Parts: sequence; structure tokens; C-alpha cells
Amino acid sequence: MCGIVGFIGQNEAKEFIIRGLKKLEYRGYDSWGMALKEKDKLKIIKETGKIGSVDERKILSGAQIAIGHTRWATHGAVTSANAHPHTDCQGQIAVVHNGIINNYQTIKEALLKKGHYFSSETDTEVIPHLVEEYLKSGLSFLEAAKKALKELDGNYAVCIISQNENQILAAANGCPLVIGKDKNNFYISSDILALQDKVSQIIFLKDGHLAQIEKEIQIFNLKTDKLTKINFQPMDKIKKDEGLGSFKHFLFKEINEQPAILAKIAQMETKEIETNAALIRNSFGTFMVACGTAYHAGLVGEYFFAQNAKMHLNLSLASEFPAFKGFLTDKTLLLAISQSGETADVLEAVKSAKTKSVKVLSILNSPHSTLGRLSDVMMTTPAGPEIAVLSTKAFTAQVAVLFLLSRAINSDLVKARKILESASAAIAKSLSEKNIQKIKHLAQKIKNTQHLFAIGRGLNFPTALEAALKIKEVSYIHAEGFAGGELKHGTIALIEEGVPCLVFVGNDQEKDEILSNAEEIKARGGYIIGIAPENHQIFDEYLPVEDLPAVSPILNIIPMQVLAYFLALEKGLDPDKPRNLAKSVTVKYPILHRVGVRKW
Ligand code: G6P
Repeated sequence: MCGIVGFIGQNEAKEFIIRGLKKLEYRGYDSWGMALKEKDKLKIIKETGKIGSVDERKILSGAQIAIGHTRWATHGAVTSANAHPHTDCQGQIAVVHNGIINNYQTIKEALLKKGHYFSSETDTEVIPHLVEEYLKSGLSFLEAAKKALKELDGNYAVCIISQNENQILAAANGCPLVIGKDKNNFYISSDILALQDKVSQIIFLKDGHLAQIEKEIQIFNLKTDKLTKINFQPMDKIKKDEGLGSFKHFLFKEINEQPAILAKIAQMETKEIETNAALIRNSFGTFMVACGTAYHAGLVGEYFFAQNAKMHLNLSLASEFPAFKGFLTDKTLLLAISQSGETADVLEAVKSAKTKSVKVLSILNSPHSTLGRLSDVMMTTPAGPEIAVLSTKAFTAQVAVLFLLSRAINSDLVKARKILESASAAIAKSLSEKNIQKIKHLAQKIKNTQHLFAIGRGLNFPTALEAALKIKEVSYIHAEGFAGGELKHGTIALIEEGVPCLVFVGNDQEKDEILSNAEEIKARGGYIIGIAPENHQIFDEYLPVEDLPAVSPILNIIPMQVLAYFLALEKGLDPDKPRNLAKSVTVKYPILHRVGVRKW
């Protein structure tokens, strides 16, 4: 949520700032901006919308120090005034920020009384004004920034520059910030993806630390004011985002990567799976926490463990986890599932569990993330960087890892691997040109629907939830998923002639019941789209999938991801960057109170 970058060195800064922001755009794309230090002046550029199409050549600047930001709005509307960087009264200090300052209102009121004037509605703007205030009192740039940061209550990753200084200050507290270097330059980013191909060495800034970067780098602990040890690590192990290749959109590319990823997971190291399965088996209760799509993967996992391991794992939305904290002991295991490893609610759940000495195992797609650093044990899903805002390949990878773990509890790994290999082949088949065209035609047919429903039972209840989520987030069609038996407890009132309903029918014990649920919908005029290994009379449309009941959610979600993709295209929407969303939700909640804004 929001991406920030910074550059200082011998090269022109704008090249990395623009390229970096384009890489980070998936984290927020309401507006973008940059501050470039030119001799003794700051050049500020801010615009609403996406940076994607901006031509680097049109930004004329030879600056060697700059900071940049791509925004997902929390405080204040999407306007260029609210876009970062934010500056002090004189426009001498510029700040980009990711996170939330909880006490910004109190600070702002005090600064207003001292005569500062504010140009935005953001929490961030208090930072440059605080620095300005402390500079006036005679402190150096570094000391003024330190003092300002110490006043903030909240989460932040910030970069601060001044028109009078040849340095960048970068600080982190609860939000990730990574600094990379090559021979002549330092690069800063809230996401390691922006640094790929640029740097040979990196360092993650710890919480409560501030880096002062000039020709060299120094890192201070803001609490103790002491310098800390600097341990850069080689960059070479970081997985790269390989770009679009021959695809037009990351969403479709990532959907198509799934057969290869599943084949990789089928080969995962036995020791890793068995050791982590033993952790679950031996814990005195395992809680799973996750958000969004990862939560749906967790729900599939809950069914896997019930069916395959005869164990009940307690799944909670990470944001609802505080209600269950009372059950944690030092023998509990917390299983955190996350693509990014930066989701604020997941991190908060993990941090609170750690205060009770709970062991944390994570299933994580971004090992170099905050969650990775907080986990006692980590299982990396080998899906590679996921760029499209919709999570697809990370979901199936999480489900596959949970499947292996659930089977390993009873030493059934050999068979489980074979099932995943078959799933990989089955998905490849379902992504055939013929099937893709069929789904495209279906998208053309239903693109104007107002509502859409999805039902499934057992393992395919989470599939129904995930299918509805994929469709609504990218096509803006109101879509809801239900357990087969639930739709009739209220929502069936919305079914009228022609309302599409996705029905997942497997060759499993749920088959007859889900078909009768489909009958209930059809009797009220619903348009039944069946996703099943074979066609059934009741289906108005049929999307074929292979017959592999043990992992049917992995197979069944594929045509739904493709359907969501084509619905977006049919409606002229950007499949990679849906409105209002961000890839990583690194803030818990926006603060709703506001202070009056003086324009100037
Ligand atoms: C955001 C993304 C979702 C994702 C959720 C959890 O809302 O748009 O696609 O499922 O966060 O993210 P995580 O990175 O923790 O899996």
C-alpha cells in the first residue's frame, strides 16, 4: 500500500525513481509524485492517476538525489495536493511516506498554532513541518529529523530530503524499507522488487532505525541514538519479476504460470514438509491467520486438515484475531498465510501472538518481507513475484502447500505429490485455447449482469468464496459466494430470471446435494454455470475441469480466474490494477477525523 523510492549517487536520479515507481505501482496507483534536488532547490512533480504511461524523457532533471511515491489514499481524497512528496512551509524539505501517523492531528494543531500552513489533508505533511520547526531551533538536518520522527506515533517508512543537504534520510517503523547499493549509488525502496537488476547488496532497515545516506551510510537506532552495525547482504538470491514476456497483462501471465508452480510444489523437500507437519501435529492447538485470498486458502486448508489429518485448525481472519488471543499459550502454533508478508492485520496478529511466546510458522510468497523476518519457521511458496493485484498463483500455491502438510501428518506424502503432479497437468489442460475461448464467450454473455452468485460445498465452499472475490474485485460486478446450503437462507431472494450462478460440482460426497442446490436456483430463474468434470442436465453453461476431488479447489478456481480476467477486458477495465485496491494492505485503517486545511 503506497510505494516509496529514494536515490542518491553519481547517476541521474530520475531514471531509478521513475522505473522504481513503475515497479511499485501495483502497491497503489491513486497518484504519484517525486522531489528532485536540483542544486539548491527542490523540483516537485505530483500527479493523480497512474505513473505507468509517464515518459521518463519528459522529466527534465539532472538531479542526483531524489525521492518518489506512488499512493493508495488513506488520508484525504485522490488529488494532486494530497499526492506525495509533502513539503514544509517553504518547500525546502520533502517527504515521502508509507504508513499511518496516528497522532498527526495533535501535531498538526500544534504546528498550525505556530504559524505553519498545510496544503494537504494527509497525515504525512506533519513530518516536513516538524523538521522545519526543529531546524528553526538550530538543530542540524539529521537531528531535526530524528526529533521529528520520535514524535510520531504510528507506522512509517519515510524518505526525507532537503534543498540544502546532499543526503537522504530514510527511516522505518513497522513498514518495510530496503536500501541497496552498487559501486556509486544508493537506492531505497519500500519493496525489494524495485531494486532488482540495480544493486548487488541490500540491507533491510530495522524498526526504529534511521539511515543517513550521503557518500557513505550510517544507521542510527532512534531509541538509543546510537549507531548500529551495518550488514549488507547479497542481492542475488532475490526472485525476480521477469516482466510481461509475450503476455499483455500480468493477471493472465500469472494464471498461466500455475501448472509450473504446482509441479515445483509437488517436488518440495520432504524434510521441510515433514518437520512443519510435525510442528502442527505436536502443537497444543494451531491457529491460522490470513486476509483476503490467503484467507480463502486457509479455509481450504481447514477442510484439508479435517479430511486428511482428522485435525481441527482454527482459522481466523487476521483482523478478527484479537477476539481469540485469549486461547494462546506458549504451546500454540500460529500459522500465518500471506502472499506479500506485509499485510498489516497479519503482522499485528503475529506480533501479538509472539508476546505470548507462540511459535510462528508462515506460508509466505515473499520471504524477504516483514512476516518472513518475524516468523520462527517459514515455508516459501515458489510462485515468484505476483504483480497483478488479484492473487491467483499465490492462492493455488498456498492451497498446494497446505495440502502437502495435511497429508504429511499421516505420512501420506508420496501419494500427495502424485496428486499435485496430476493437478499441474490438469490445469495446463484447462488452460487450452479451446477452453480459454469458451470462457471468453461466457464473459461476453454475462458481462452486463448486476449480480452473480457462486456456490460450492465442502472443499468447494472456499472455492465459491474465492471465485466471487476474483470476479468482483476486477469486474466490479456484485458477486457473492456461499456454501451450497446457505444461499436459500436469505440471498436466494435476489435470484431472478437470468442471474448467473456458478456451481462447483465434483465427483465427491457433496455431488447430489450441490446439484439439488443448483435446482433450487434454477427453479427461480437462475442461469446455471457448472464447473465440473462432466456436464449435467441442469447446467446452462458448462466449464469442464479434470476430475481430481482431493484438490478440486486448485482445479476449479482456474476457469474462475480466467473468467474474471475476461470480464475485466470485456468491460474495458484494467485487469492488473482494479480501482480502490492495492496489492499489499500495509495499513490497518485510515483515521477518520480531519483538521481544517488551509490552501495556499
Ligand atoms: C490485498 C490483496 C489481496 C490479498 C490480501 C492479503 O487485499 O489485494 O489479493 O489476498 O491483500 O494479502 P497477503 O499479501 O497477506 O496475502
